[in-house]
Amino acid sequence: MSESAIDAPPPPSGCDHFSKSVDPEVWWRAHFVDAAGAIVDFFAGDGISLEDKRIADVGCGDGIIDLGVAVRAKPEQLVGFDILDNDVDLLQRRAAQHAGIETLPPNLYFSTSETTRLPAEDDSFDYVISWSAFEHIDDPVAVLREIRRILRPMGVLFIQLWPFYDSAHGTHLVDWFPEGFAQYRYDNAEILRRVRSTGSQDMASEMLEVYRTLNGITADGLQDALRQAGFRIVKVALDSEAVHIPVEAAHLPLSQVAISGIKLLAIAEDDEAGASAASDGGAASDGAGPAGTAGAGPAGTESAGAESAGSAMDGAVTGAARAQVGQTGAESDEAEGGELAV
Ligand SMILES: C[S@@+](CC[C@H](N)C(=O)[O-])C[C@H]1O[C@@H](n2cnc3c(N)ncnc32)[C@H](O)[C@@H]1O
Repeated sequence: MSESAIDAPPPPSGCDHFSKSVDPEVWWRAHFVDAAGAIVDFFAGDGISLEDKRIADVGCGDGIIDLGVAVRAKPEQLVGFDILDNDVDLLQRRAAQHAGIETLPPNLYFSTSETTRLPAEDDSFDYVISWSAFEHIDDPVAVLREIRRILRPMGVLFIQLWPFYDSAHGTHLVDWFPEGFAQYRYDNAEILRRVRSTGSQDMASEMLEVYRTLNGITADGLQDALRQAGFRIVKVALDSEAVHIPVEAAHLPLSQVAISGIKLLAIAEDDEAGASAASDGGAASDGAGPAGTAGAGPAGTESAGAESAGSAMDGAVTGAARAQVGQTGAESDEAEGGELAV
């Protein structure tokens, strides 16, 4: 094979529907159907049902995923947190248009958070989910500590992240750089020029800001951040597709360029003893602490005060996940970060 053939940029694969410029119906399906389904299924794979449980979503964005999870899993309450206000009227209109949902579920709330502070009480959620947010969060350790604070004892955290910064479409600029690895092929001036040269200038500005503010976290960096916040990963699935690595990225570890995304479940290290008891068939968590969030959303958040029905990874589920994952390994390097000035 000639070098030019080897270097030939592959077409974007399987990620175009994550771009904000796609057809609204495709965007809706990717979030309401695919992402929400993937979350529910990832828990269900370990026998965990979200029904009648209290769920928080950190970095909820437009709330479509939250609606999908609320409809599918029937939690007691689902609160989407984001540092940006959610446009609930827009969500309602989209729900009516794409899914015939005329009224948003009464157990779905949205709350505006601060960058390192979630407006919720200690021990108030059974599960926390986060989808495609942790590469955008300035201080992942601080937010993970907040998540740990609001999780009930024995709670479980689900994180999905795609794409990692060093992977082919880690710039989030796939529309302009379908060949991938633009962050290594081109300097910032070229990236700026190409993004500005086509399409809507509003979209260009938004996506350049997204690119500029990515935190550059890696899979190992995410694990390290979780550990710093007192979490332990108990289940993980890595995404990896065939990619052509350009010479400019040839020096990077495969674990960075070839891992495009991750889904994981993590539990608080402090819960080890209790979780072991649960996995032995012991009592579930007592659901300590009143539920509720501050920072009212459109419908306001409420103090449901309901007891958690049980531990998050209770029974054989916990035992199975722990048996598969085993003990934690050596310390990994600090999460990569750094400025991405454009
Ligand atoms: C790419 S969007 C993902 C939104 C949604 N989860 C989805 O997949 O459609 C990332 C979101 O994370 C939010 N975000 C960034 N930093 C955050 C923080 N410190 N706390 C909460 N949300 C944050 C952003 O405002 C943005 O809405």
